[in-house]
Amino acid sequence: MSILKYIQHYLTGQTRHDAHSPFMYNLITRCIKRKGDTGMCMRIEKLKADLKKSPQVIQVVDYGAGTGNGSTYTNPVKDIARNSAIGRRHGRLLHRLVRYFKPEYVLELGTSLGIGTAYLASAYEGAKVLSVEGSPETAAFARQNLQKLGINNVEVHVGNFDEVLPAIISAQPRLDFVFFDGNHRKEPTLAYFNQCLAKAHGDTVFVFHDIHWSEGMEQAWEEIKAHPRVRVTADLFFSGLVFLSPS
Ligand SMILES: C[S@@+](CC[C@H](N)C(=O)[O-])C[C@H]1O[C@@H](n2cnc3c(N)ncnc32)[C@H](O)[C@@H]1O
Repeated sequence: MSILKYIQHYLTGQTRHDAHSPFMYNLITRCIKRKGDTGMCMRIEKLKADLKKSPQVIQVVDYGAGTGNGSTYTNPVKDIARNSAIGRRHGRLLHRLVRYFKPEYVLELGTSLGIGTAYLASAYEGAKVLSVEGSPETAAFARQNLQKLGINNVEVHVGNFDEVLPAIISAQPRLDFVFFDGNHRKEPTLAYFNQCLAKAHGDTVFVFHDIHWSEGMEQAWEEIKAHPRVRVTADLFFSGLVFLSPS
């Protein structure tokens, strides 16, 4: 099915982001639909396969759509790798997006084991990737994984998004690329979107994961698409891409 079916735009005037513009045509043909990836993607996928067999158990603090109240429990790493780490198809898409847009300031909400982080950070050495994770042992595990892959352009911050995000965002000169992949609920997702908008510009790319995961995420996605700063979106089903107007 053509990806163009999913691309919607919300401006009446001609802009470089219009669905039929060279911008969108090039994005689709040179990035989204492009085949072939780097050896690093295969190394990340090998690491994820190893994690799926890990005998290790870690303590997890849950601020997300699970319980959301900071409750603590133990979880086998192999279950986290199976259930929370990004899949190959989407991970490779993230990698291609970063290779294509070459963003300098990258933010990821939800590090988990660092698999998505690795796809993002390894795609462009000029990127400074800041990834935020609420669960301290999970974040420590992610740092180890990134180290194993030889990835050095990432800082993993520990904290509940609701508490730490405002200060993290205001410390950034700008946000060029944001991957929203934690706390998949309507109100928090919209709150994080609005906070990130403050440092976004006309070339910023937002990627929202799991936009059709729940009724709440569907509603959040509808509101994001209707936001006055949103010029064009692409619904790739498992995630949504958002391109913005300048502030
Ligand atoms: C789906 S996983 C992230 C997967 C990862 N981005 C990847 O690509 O492999 C979501 C992560 O977000 C974290 N998280 C969810 N809600 C959070 C919150 N409110 N504050 C901080 N971390 C949160 C969870 O602990 C979990 O590790």
